[in-house]
Amino acid sequence: MAFSVNINGQDYLLDVPADTPLLWAIRDNLKLTGTKFGCGLAQCGSCTVHLAGQPIRSCVTPVSAVVGQQITTIEGIESQAATLIQTAWEKLEVPQCGYCQSGQVMAASALIATNNSPTDADIDAAMSGNICRCATYVRIRQAIKDAASELKEGV
Ligand code: FES
Ligand code: FES
Repeated sequence: MAFSVNINGQDYLLDVPADTPLLWAIRDNLKLTGTKFGCGLAQCGSCTVHLAGQPIRSCVTPVSAVVGQQITTIEGIESQAATLIQTAWEKLEVPQCGYCQSGQVMAASALIATNNSPTDADIDAAMSGNICRCATYVRIRQAIKDAASELKEGV
């Protein structure tokens, strides 16, 4: 069966079984490999993409559930929030191995897009599902605060 999905502003017709995880379609069918497979169980956050601007776990989201909706992957984020997050990530050299980082950036971008003054509790709530085995959490928190501050100032 074919499913029409919009990814990064482009329409695709995916001829896959209805229960195919969106992550598989993104990586295997569309070759957008910035989104990573970690656990496959909605436990690690490495597969995070945006559905209409909100972070979702693409490993447990079937393609059939996102027909006609706007999906954004790490390759397609262009908002001011996302740009400021990525700039802060680079400035603070957040990544170590990097494996979890596209998911972290997607979650962090969605957070500051709706909250430009996140408290530690806000950051914990938004980011607790994104695991980093390299324990870059301190730099992630600081980068989120720096980017949010710049967003608030209208940089
Ligand atoms: S791979 Fe999706 S949450 Fe871990
Ligand atoms: S940077 Fe290595 S898992 Fe997060």
